[in-house]
Amino acid sequence: MVASGAEGSVYRTSYLGRRAMVKIRSPKQYRIPELDRRIRSQRIRAEARLIREARSAGIRTPIIYDVDTKECSITMEDVDGMTVKAYLDQHPEDAERVCRLIGTDIARLHNSKICHGDLTTSNMILTKDSRLCLIDFSMGASLIGVEDMGVDIRLLERAFYSAHPTIKNAFGDFIDAYCRTKTDSKQVMDKVQEIKDRGRYT
Ligand SMILES: Nc1ncnc2c1ncn2[C@@H]1O[C@H](COP(=O)(O)OP(=O)(O)OP(=O)(O)O)[C@@H](O)[C@H]1O
Ligand SMILES: [Mg+2]
Repeated sequence: MVASGAEGSVYRTSYLGRRAMVKIRSPKQYRIPELDRRIRSQRIRAEARLIREARSAGIRTPIIYDVDTKECSITMEDVDGMTVKAYLDQHPEDAERVCRLIGTDIARLHNSKICHGDLTTSNMILTKDSRLCLIDFSMGASLIGVEDMGVDIRLLERAFYSAHPTIKNAFGDFIDAYCRTKTDSKQVMDKVQEIKDRGRYT
C-alpha cells in the first residue's frame, strides 16, 4: 500500500507486465449499500474522465489502464518520480523553478475549463526528467467558470504555505507563470482577491 485516506487506498500493482498503481474507493458502512456502490462507481468514473481530459489538454497525468466500476478502482501508470512535497522538502532551493512549472500547468488546465479541486504539493509528481505530473482529480470538475479557478488557486496558496512554511515568495513565481499562460488571467486574480476578502470579513 502506498497511501490510505478517508475515501480509499492506493496500491502498487502490475498491469500487462507494466508497473502500475491501483486506486480503490472503499465502501462506506454508513451508506445504504446500493447507493454507496453507485456513488463510488460514479466518483471513480468522474476521476478517470478528468485525468483523461487533462491529458488531452496537454497536461501530464497518469495513463489510465483500466477503470473497474464494480470494484470502484482505477488502474493507472505508476509515474516514476517523487511528489512535489517530498522534492521541495529535499530541495527548497529549487522552489522557484518548480512553482513556475506548476503555474504553467494549472493555467493550461484552467484554459481547458478544468479545475483540479485539491491542489496540494502531494497531488503532483515531479518526474525523473523534471516534468510535472498532476494526480488525484477526485475533487475536480470540468466546464468550470472563474469562481472554481479562483478557489483552486486560493487552496493551493494555503496548502503550499502550510506544507512548506519556510519557503518564502515561491507563490509569487507560481502566480507570475500562471498569468503568462492563462487567458483573461486578470479575471481570475480579481476572483482570488474576492475570495480572500470574503474569508476575512465573514
Ligand atoms: N499514478 C501514480 N503514480 C505514482 N504515485 C502515485 C500515483 N497515484 C497516486 N500516487 C501516490 O499515492 C498518493 C495518494 O494518491 P492520491 O492522491 O490519488 O490519493 P488520495 O489523496 O488518498 O485520494 P483522495 O483524495 O481521492 O482520497 C500520492 O500522493 C502519490 O504519492
Ligand atoms: Mg491525494
